[in-house]
Amino acid sequence: MSTDNTVHKFVDDAAVIAFVSAHSDQLDLSVPPVVEEIGDGNINFVYRVRDHRGKSLIVKQALPYIRIIGEGWPLSLDRIRIEADVLRSEACWAPHQVPELLYFSPADAAILMQDIGDHQNLRHALIERRELPGLGLQIGDFLAATLFHTSDLFLNSTAKKEQLASFINPDLCGISEEVYFIDPFCDHERNSVNPLLLQEAKQIWADDALRAEVAELKYGFMNRTEALIHGDLHTGSIFVRDGSIKVIDPEFAFCGPVGFDLGTVLANFLLNFSAQLGLPSEMEEKNRYQHYLLQQLRELWNSFSQSFLELAEQKSADAGLASVQWRARKMADFFADMLGYAGVEMMRRTLGIAHVADLEQITDESVRVVSERLSIRLACLLITRRGELSGIEELLKEIQALQQSL
Ligand SMILES: Nc1ncnc2c1ncn2[C@@H]1O[C@H](COP(=O)(O)OP(=O)(O)OP(=O)(O)O)[C@@H](O)[C@H]1O
Ligand SMILES: [Mg+2]
Repeated sequence: MSTDNTVHKFVDDAAVIAFVSAHSDQLDLSVPPVVEEIGDGNINFVYRVRDHRGKSLIVKQALPYIRIIGEGWPLSLDRIRIEADVLRSEACWAPHQVPELLYFSPADAAILMQDIGDHQNLRHALIERRELPGLGLQIGDFLAATLFHTSDLFLNSTAKKEQLASFINPDLCGISEEVYFIDPFCDHERNSVNPLLLQEAKQIWADDALRAEVAELKYGFMNRTEALIHGDLHTGSIFVRDGSIKVIDPEFAFCGPVGFDLGTVLANFLLNFSAQLGLPSEMEEKNRYQHYLLQQLRELWNSFSQSFLELAEQKSADAGLASVQWRARKMADFFADMLGYAGVEMMRRTLGIAHVADLEQITDESVRVVSERLSIRLACLLITRRGELSGIEELLKEIQALQQSL
């Protein structure tokens, strides 16, 4: 893999087509196809190449810097190798829940993959208040399958260490370490704070006890190599259709704490939950959707914990990790971590550099502040009380009680 800066962007559509033609015969290129740049993310270039019959494939290319910033923010090309390797790993354990990887070219720092354009971005689906049956359950199963099979409960000791070495991801972990665990908890120049939320933000920045809890979570993020985690599992990385999910964009993956992926998903559902408060619709409709979101979280946690424990029961070979009592204790640790990392994600999406459309669609600052206030109060609850809450039912009660107390 070339990790220097020698890779060049595909110069034109013809170069993208030549890449597809060299590495797949799925498209009929006898008639010139249509190339469209579809990337709505911040970091890479994503193209859809569609042939005259309507069949399409996706090309994703990394450049040695962040797309929307340019050469001023360099970023290792190894991230696209990591993305390709994680897609391969996930395809082993959750084959229908990731786009199929067709080819990875280190020389072009580019991957060729299945087009999952028949699925919708989950963030957009939640913003439209779509109710997808079985959504939480499918996400829970994806997490159980991918996290269990890359943990010490499944891999032997050597394989686990090889995995650890293969997914050292310093550039992208470095970004996360700053934007999750530092910026939102201090008056950082990168932050973007609604002026009407400034009083609450200042209280957070002055809260030493909160900072100690966040330090503990950051230290866990840096040191707890429990499983190969996705590392950026917000609702824009999950695509949905009735009865199906597809998870994309694992370039932030590394061996880290299981609770981080769980927490990122939980947070993004709760950010949408918080946004409902400030949206203009009928109260009844908003309440109904909030209820739907909480039900998905219940199903997500229950399916994750049940599937993970079943997999451990059926497939775990390590005699030293066979204790049922210990496994139950581990599940309680995952739960507490999930809450803590969810709180950090909510805080960074409300006070930090990268906000979410769920909240930003509320254009009036004086209305949005109501939702943002709920978001940061939920975040504080999740971070500070993560070790006390006994399980998902108690958590859901606390979330509803907090909303009613506002
Ligand atoms: N396999 C795919 N099939 C269809 N569309 C895709 C596929 N992969 C990516 N896309 C589209 O391209 C967009 C950007 O992709 P992706 O999130 O992987 O890029 P990124 O540059 O890494 O983004 P980010 O800044 O969020 O990290 C997605 O939101 C989706 O709309
Ligand atoms: Mg990405």
